[in-house]
Amino acid sequence: MQRVPPSLSPDVLDATRLRRDEFPWMDTGESIYLNVASTGPLPESSVRAQEVFTRKRAAPHRLGQDEQFETLTIVRRQLATLIGADVAEIALATNTSAGLNLAAWTLPLGPGDVVVIPDLEFPANVYPWMAAAAVRGFTLWRIPVNEGMLDEPAVLSALDRPDVRVLAVSWVGFATGAVAHLDVLGTACRERGIRFVVDAIQGLGPLTLDVSRVPIDLLACGGQKWLLSPWGTGFTYVRRSLVQELAPQPVSWMGVRGSDDFSRLLSYDLTWRDDARRFEQITLPFQDFAGMGASLALLHALGANAVAAHVHARTTELLDGAAEQGIALVTPRAHVAGIVSLRPADPRRTSDRLDAARVAHSVREGTIRLAPHCYTTRDDVLVALDALRESP
Ligand SMILES: Cc1ncc(COP(=O)(O)O)c(C=O)c1O
Repeated sequence: MQRVPPSLSPDVLDATRLRRDEFPWMDTGESIYLNVASTGPLPESSVRAQEVFTRKRAAPHRLGQDEQFETLTIVRRQLATLIGADVAEIALATNTSAGLNLAAWTLPLGPGDVVVIPDLEFPANVYPWMAAAAVRGFTLWRIPVNEGMLDEPAVLSALDRPDVRVLAVSWVGFATGAVAHLDVLGTACRERGIRFVVDAIQGLGPLTLDVSRVPIDLLACGGQKWLLSPWGTGFTYVRRSLVQELAPQPVSWMGVRGSDDFSRLLSYDLTWRDDARRFEQITLPFQDFAGMGASLALLHALGANAVAAHVHARTTELLDGAAEQGIALVTPRAHVAGIVSLRPADPRRTSDRLDAARVAHSVREGTIRLAPHCYTTRDDVLVALDALRESP
């Protein structure tokens, strides 16, 4: 087994207890789960919440309408607290793509306008812009990478063009694991009157965010990875000043004022809600949001800062251990969140060794991607480092 590098911070979370209570399968040897960047595991409390909700739903009269909608209200509040937003700025969504499509199709854009995205973006932050550009007539400008990495200086200088209206970036690159400086990019956008759109799915959880301090206009985030929530959950944050400017697309029957009163549905008044709920697509998967509520309650109880510090300790151990073995690091040490991306000499063989050691990981763009979370122990890291090692 590999020695743990000595420079590590002490554990900030009691991962052992957390595993026992919420992820009991992790102590059976079934899997060293380092693949949250693909799909987050569900805490037991989240599974239970979904089951309880679904059990009631099986006999729908047991599930009052108030309880049904309260499930969503609770999650909106939890998400607002998590990112320092007002609850009126949160629209629940079923994935990340919903928010990115909202941006691409509803931000005021047309011929002569330019939208900037860096290269290396996950397709969820590319195809909506390509499709909308073709219909709406704006230009999509992709900024090439520099030595395989996000080129922030080039992105920043692109913003000086007077026709740029929007910058859309991933907070954390899905393949490189590199963290974009949201404060620097957002401030540059704000100074130039450019809208700043963020795909946060690989960032929120391993990192913390306070949107009252970082000038983001629209943020899209699925719940299925770092928020440890069911598929079909997520949210879009829309800055309050922008909510009123955007007409929802697509249009939901509950996006309008007065639609909570089911006894007056036929008055057909197309006046949008004042808050971000105008963007929600009811009917949402209520049972999945019941699960998300429990997952977020767990993350809140652990503390967003403690989770981030724990993930940072584990990613540092992985990076240090891999570097000690001479494996090329793709993720820059200074800009790491939860993804550790490595380029071993033979990624295929390394992946096979990780599989043999039951280390769940992913292979992305020729790199090995490892992603620990709040439940990851030092022992997990040691097993992974051992499996990474080329036998002499
Ligand atoms: C950066 C990034 N954005 C978006 C997604 C997924 O988008 P959606 O939630 O719409 O499926 C992923 C991964 O699946 C991702 O890594």
